Amino acid sequence: MAHSFEFYSPTKVIFGKDAEGKIGKEAKACGASSVMVVYGGGSARRSGLLEKVESALDAEKIAFCELGGVVPNPRLDKVYEGIRTGRERRVDFLLAVGGGSVIDTAKAVAYGLAEPEYDVWELFAHTRTAKRCLPVASVLTIAAAGSETSKGCVITNERTGEKRAYDDNLARPKFAVMNPDYTKTLPDYQTESGCVDIMMHTMERYFTNGGTMEITDALAEGLLRTVMKNAVTLHHNPGDDDARAEIMWAGSLAHNDLTGCGNDGGDFMSHKLEHELGGMFDVTHGAGLAAVWPSWARYVYRDCLPRFVRYARNVMGVAAGGSDEETAEAGIRAMEEFYRSIEMPVNLEELGVRPTDGQIGEMAERCLAACGGRTGSAKKLTREDMIRIYENARGSGQSGREGAPALHAAGPAE
Ligand code: NZQ
Ligand code: ZN
Repeated sequence: MAHSFEFYSPTKVIFGKDAEGKIGKEAKACGASSVMVVYGGGSARRSGLLEKVESALDAEKIAFCELGGVVPNPRLDKVYEGIRTGRERRVDFLLAVGGGSVIDTAKAVAYGLAEPEYDVWELFAHTRTAKRCLPVASVLTIAAAGSETSKGCVITNERTGEKRAYDDNLARPKFAVMNPDYTKTLPDYQTESGCVDIMMHTMERYFTNGGTMEITDALAEGLLRTVMKNAVTLHHNPGDDDARAEIMWAGSLAHNDLTGCGNDGGDFMSHKLEHELGGMFDVTHGAGLAAVWPSWARYVYRDCLPRFVRYARNVMGVAAGGSDEETAEAGIRAMEEFYRSIEMPVNLEELGVRPTDGQIGEMAERCLAACGGRTGSAKKLTREDMIRIYENARGSGQSGREGAPALHAAGPAE
């Protein structure tokens, strides 16, 4: 029996070649008069996109200032810097040019500017909810996080190592400009990490014990098969226009809640477990998900067997014939093989991190706190379950007693 749901995805999507030419007019239509252009470590400047965005604002006589230097697993200090600058420049609109880290920084600055009387971190600490948020829009350069249409915002407090999410419809972007051409400068590791993240946003909603709908499952399974096919294409031919476009659109559909309508909100424990890895070891989000998922899946599948069987058959193409448990296990193995085929890690060792027992205990403790009581749907996890999943994810040959943190194990640099 399906649950009731509300589907709210108000972001206007402007997709395709030369889409960035429309930015000025769209910003104007949103009432922007003083824009903060947020960007990352320089890829948007090198590709010429930033210049085009700023020219488009100039053409509409919209004033703007810049907030550059956002890093992956974006930091709270950069958010505070943006809020200070935004106040001085009386910013009334945030325009993110980049990926999830840049868009999330723009969202967090937008919350901070709209409610100057509060510390924005309180939202991520879940000690209050937002009443207001300035308008945000995005010009996407990597298909991955889905932040361009999502209600999510994920920020890392570099002082405590906590990476925390705050979800609120207030921050859904007003518009998202998506020209797949601009993703062609991505290193393969980022492209494929992005593909994993897109798949995981769908899978987190799929592996649930909270009901579903046939249409939702069909959308999810079609999306997963499409992303897998095109992820392989891009691994071998990064310049493939069609594959770039398929993946970019899939990224938005995977995380605008479309693939979760009618269930209980999904599981999302692989994400929660990965966020702690990101906060402690600064790993690339999608690669971290690939490294955690097989361990999570093997730990929980018996508690969610019909979904794992369906997944094995309809997504991974496992032939009928074996028992349900055998089919589910074959589906998990096939997923690992797929990750390997696009050079994604399937355990922590391959990810490049070697957490000690103490660090695993700390991540489990923090993960439990971040869950706020919602610890999964495929299986509700305890702190001890989380410890086992991290331990089982270590990979071969690791005792975990001599391990040292591999800080900044974020994959090959661009
Ligand atoms: O900083 P620059 O120079 O732009 O380089 C970035 C960065 O190093 C590079 N990059 C992006 N576009 C590029 C490019 N390099 C060359 N050419 C391009 N066109 O890619 C690197 C990663 O960028 P990032 O923005 O971190 O990637 P992604 O979109 O994967 O975002 C990851 C962040 O989003 C959060 C993650 O936890 C992580 O912090 N998430 C946000 C969500 C949301 N708001 O709804 C949901 C997700 O589950 C996720 O948690
Ligand atoms: Zn994600």
